[in-house]
Amino acid sequence: MTVTLPGHALGTPLARVEGPEKVTGAARYAVEYPVENAAHAWIVRSPVARGRLRDVELDPTLDGVLAVLWHGNAPELRKPQDPELYVLQDERISYRGQVIALVVAETLEAARRAAQSAVLDIGEEPHDVVLRADHPDLYTPDVVNPGFPAETAQGDAEAALAAAPVTVDVTYTTPALHNNPMEPHATIAVWDGDEDLTLYDSNQGPWPVAADVASTLGLDPARVRIVAEHVGGGFGSKGSARPNAILAAMAARVTGRPVKLALPRQALFSLVGHRTPTIQRVRLGAGPDGTLTAITHDAISQSSRIFEFAEQTAVVTRHMYAAANRRTGHRLVRLDVPTPRWMRAPGEAPGMVALECAMDELAAALDLDPIELRVRNEPGVEPEEGAPFTSRNYLRCLREGARRFGWDGRDHRPARRREGEWWRGTGVAGATYPAMAAPCTARARRLPDGRVEVSVAATDLGTGARTVLTQIAADALGLPVDRVTVRIGDTALPKAPVAGGSSGTASWGWAVDGACRTLREGTADECVFDTAELVEARGNEGRHAFGAHYAAVRVSAVTGEVRVDRLFGMYAVGRVLNPRTARSQFIGGMTMGMGMALHEEGVLDPHTGDWVNHDLADYHIPAHADVRDIDAAWIDEHDDQLNPMGSKGIGEIGIVGSPAAILNAIWHATGIRIRDLPARMDRIL
Ligand code: MOS
Repeated sequence: MTVTLPGHALGTPLARVEGPEKVTGAARYAVEYPVENAAHAWIVRSPVARGRLRDVELDPTLDGVLAVLWHGNAPELRKPQDPELYVLQDERISYRGQVIALVVAETLEAARRAAQSAVLDIGEEPHDVVLRADHPDLYTPDVVNPGFPAETAQGDAEAALAAAPVTVDVTYTTPALHNNPMEPHATIAVWDGDEDLTLYDSNQGPWPVAADVASTLGLDPARVRIVAEHVGGGFGSKGSARPNAILAAMAARVTGRPVKLALPRQALFSLVGHRTPTIQRVRLGAGPDGTLTAITHDAISQSSRIFEFAEQTAVVTRHMYAAANRRTGHRLVRLDVPTPRWMRAPGEAPGMVALECAMDELAAALDLDPIELRVRNEPGVEPEEGAPFTSRNYLRCLREGARRFGWDGRDHRPARRREGEWWRGTGVAGATYPAMAAPCTARARRLPDGRVEVSVAATDLGTGARTVLTQIAADALGLPVDRVTVRIGDTALPKAPVAGGSSGTASWGWAVDGACRTLREGTADECVFDTAELVEARGNEGRHAFGAHYAAVRVSAVTGEVRVDRLFGMYAVGRVLNPRTARSQFIGGMTMGMGMALHEEGVLDPHTGDWVNHDLADYHIPAHADVRDIDAAWIDEHDDQLNPMGSKGIGEIGIVGSPAAILNAIWHATGIRIRDLPARMDRIL
């Protein structure tokens, strides 16, 4: 543990406070809670992409089966906001892999065996699972997540493009991507009577999950307790209740026993949301000096039959570069596929692939250094609305990143550097992510021995949230960190928002800071602080983190394989509260960006409607051997319009722009533009 003076913990690399509990196995994850007399559940999933379930039959000779639930007998639910939670309610099958029955048994093995041998009577119907740019059912949604206009326009982009001496008109596609947190989604449900429910559930926000569960089951939210003390990753896929929470609660109600339900890894590919595939067209018009006159970004994505999830793919382009004439738009098609959902930097991550690769293509067309092109198009204010940024510092990231990476003197012509079998190249791409905060409540309580206990229903996905909240509390109290205990992950604690949108630390930390300062300045032994009014007065507009990603790659001229020799991120994220956990967030995001550029690709078979590669043997993510020299750094940024800590979010920006930097480096190495991700060997050679 780092030794710090009382009140000087922020900014120090404090190790995770729960680290010893985790490495000794004492930290409990959802299904590890000891409950008496637990039964075990296993899901039955649809083997067809579209149809009707008529009947489910189990082999009656199987031992240990307590119940099989399906739409013929399952408890009735209220229609939830998220139709994915409306499980086992009707015969309609909307996608392959959908949960259509649940077996509850004495043991996990008995439940799985019975579920896998269930006989399903299904009326199959023709399905359509293929996203195409010319799909006849494409439409423009009213809004894209989380409520942005689907289309925006300023000036006359078409006229400006027609008049521009230099133009780029490119289409990039990104595949479906899948969240695979180390801990799959899991729940233990325990009823106390008919009205009180406790769920030990792996999620990114106990209070939001309690609200989902209560409304779906028709319960008083105050009588639903959600415990998520330790969570093994989420990336957005645990940002709200998932079907496992509702299914476990139903099974426990029906059997009168606590029920454990863990989703098997393979089920994650269809049950917890995927990142939608995208087809994106970006057009840029520029003068001979590289000054942009027009930018358009049109994105196509998919959603399911049961829910309109409209990813905000082109929204990021609204914040990046100056140009008088601009347009962004989104279209969507509803297919017989699982509902897409959030995955780390939803919208920004795929959107920046198209924008930042198109910018690289424009730099090449102009024979201009790609950093210089960005410098020439730096807007003084928000490019669409003209509002000021509270802080931006994008150019500082580009320049300081270039200096540290060793960009100066780079020959920007492609395919000039070959050593033996290997082509070598470097690439750059920008990054941005909004710096949001949501209302939160926290409590600080002075214990008899002078220590302080701080409570807030935050969640720590492994990011170090508990640790940084301890630092925030210690500084606000003027105490050393070892005099402060932070309790999180339970709706028995003060109400807090989700660990999502890179807003967790800003939201929870603001409330923790307020509660601790109030305690320190007053005479009470306990203080509760609610940030609702402060957060509302601050708003979220004009607040963004920025960054620049740099990649050095080698591409084999023999096999087409790509090696990322170096990946470097330079960030402007306000004050960095813990450099150790911040760096780990950045390089984690960048590693996911490497996966997006090179490895990850959810392949949906048009005939079966199933994800062909639905496990980690076939769905490739970077292994340690792929991640060589990776590092992150940040500039000293002060922005007093954020929150008391002066921080922006850091959880998602690492995956925004890092794929484009790698793709741009591949072009620099080989002269080959990969416009369809990932950059597989067969696409390079
Ligand atoms: Mo993140 S995709 O907002 O959990």
